[in-house]
Amino acid sequence: MIKEYKTPGISLLKNDIDNKISLEPYSWLWPEDVEYVYDFHKSLPFYSPTPLVSLKGLARRLGVKAIYVKDESKRFEEFGLNAFKGMGGIFAVGQVICRKLGIDPQKASYELLTSPEIREKTKDMVFITTTDGNHGRGVAWAAHMYGCRSYVYMPKGSAKSRVEAIKRVGAEECTVTDMNYDDTVKFTRDLAEKNGWNLVQDTAWEGYEEIPRLIVQGYTTIGREVLSQIKEMGGEPLSHVFLQAGVGSFAGGIMGYYSKLLEKRPEFVVVEPSKVACFYESAKAGDGEPHGVESAENTMMAGLNCGQPSIGVWPVIRDLARYYIACDDELTERGMRLYANPVHGDPAIVSGESAAVGLGLVDRIMSDENAGEIRKVLGFDKNSVILLFSTEGATDPENYKRVVYGK
Ligand SMILES: Cc1ncc(COP(=O)(O)O)c(C=O)c1O
Repeated sequence: MIKEYKTPGISLLKNDIDNKISLEPYSWLWPEDVEYVYDFHKSLPFYSPTPLVSLKGLARRLGVKAIYVKDESKRFEEFGLNAFKGMGGIFAVGQVICRKLGIDPQKASYELLTSPEIREKTKDMVFITTTDGNHGRGVAWAAHMYGCRSYVYMPKGSAKSRVEAIKRVGAEECTVTDMNYDDTVKFTRDLAEKNGWNLVQDTAWEGYEEIPRLIVQGYTTIGREVLSQIKEMGGEPLSHVFLQAGVGSFAGGIMGYYSKLLEKRPEFVVVEPSKVACFYESAKAGDGEPHGVESAENTMMAGLNCGQPSIGVWPVIRDLARYYIACDDELTERGMRLYANPVHGDPAIVSGESAAVGLGLVDRIMSDENAGEIRKVLGFDKNSVILLFSTEGATDPENYKRVVYGK
């Protein structure tokens, strides 16, 4: 049974999932199946976990037990990536190379894939992808790292700064099309087929599921880092995990990985922009099928502006997410400002448009008297231990300055 709750700017769905859990659709995300992903990431000489921050002052002010934030603005910062997506890109591109060259994928390592012998074989390989920013940057960076070429395509309206950032990390070309995200994906799919290039897309569709699955697996290392960091910090078990969704690969990856690891599963909250909330609409339809919506002309949350749920993670999210939130851009603006100007004693975090929405929601829901019903339905109280993923830094610096400093 699905119920909907609303307060201005926020819609919430509560999904009664308890009877639906079947473990089959997401066994490929279980820890034993993704151990080699972590081994691969560890082989990167520049790999280190991003910080996990506890916003103690804010938790006290809002009346919850703890708010943990995984700060992905620090991910591969020295290369200018500043977003979680590189974890999927570097793993998946490496795996594609292994498959093409007949190398055992479980044996993939940085040293092997960048050895002169392998580079000689990969120098003419071409990778292609569509992106609203961060994924393409990760793929271009990874391809360059392995000595391959990459072509990246972006939907109309993409920020110039994001195009330049993709070129800076080594894309041969980065082109903004006159199509929306979903049509650009179809366009690159056709280009890849015509030219025999390697399509590395983070969303799956009928007949294209293996590579998106690798990307999703690449994100599990982030979930793993969080759990060991919470343990080191002597933290409490999580009660709520907020996960932003575009095509859903990130949310699905973390949920699937956590589903078996945690003794008591936290409540997973899937967050999307109101204007393009395909998981929200799919859950609301209640028929167990994924449903697409039009990509939005103008949400600020560029990384979440995807109208088609990835079929690769849809069953995972459908079976594991208790809550879905669709919210307006003002919530992410609120989050961006709060991260930048924290409560006294808390560290500041640079959090971009697609990253900050969880914090904006928690702050608003806990402090707005009109959000009382939503607060109650979510089960937020003094025992809540909330995990947020700040998935990118200021990847659109102009807009970041405008929102945070009013410039
Ligand atoms: C910063 C950021 N957060 C979250 C997401 C959502 O990830 P996914 O598309 O895998 O759902 C994206 C996607 O581009 C992103 O760039």
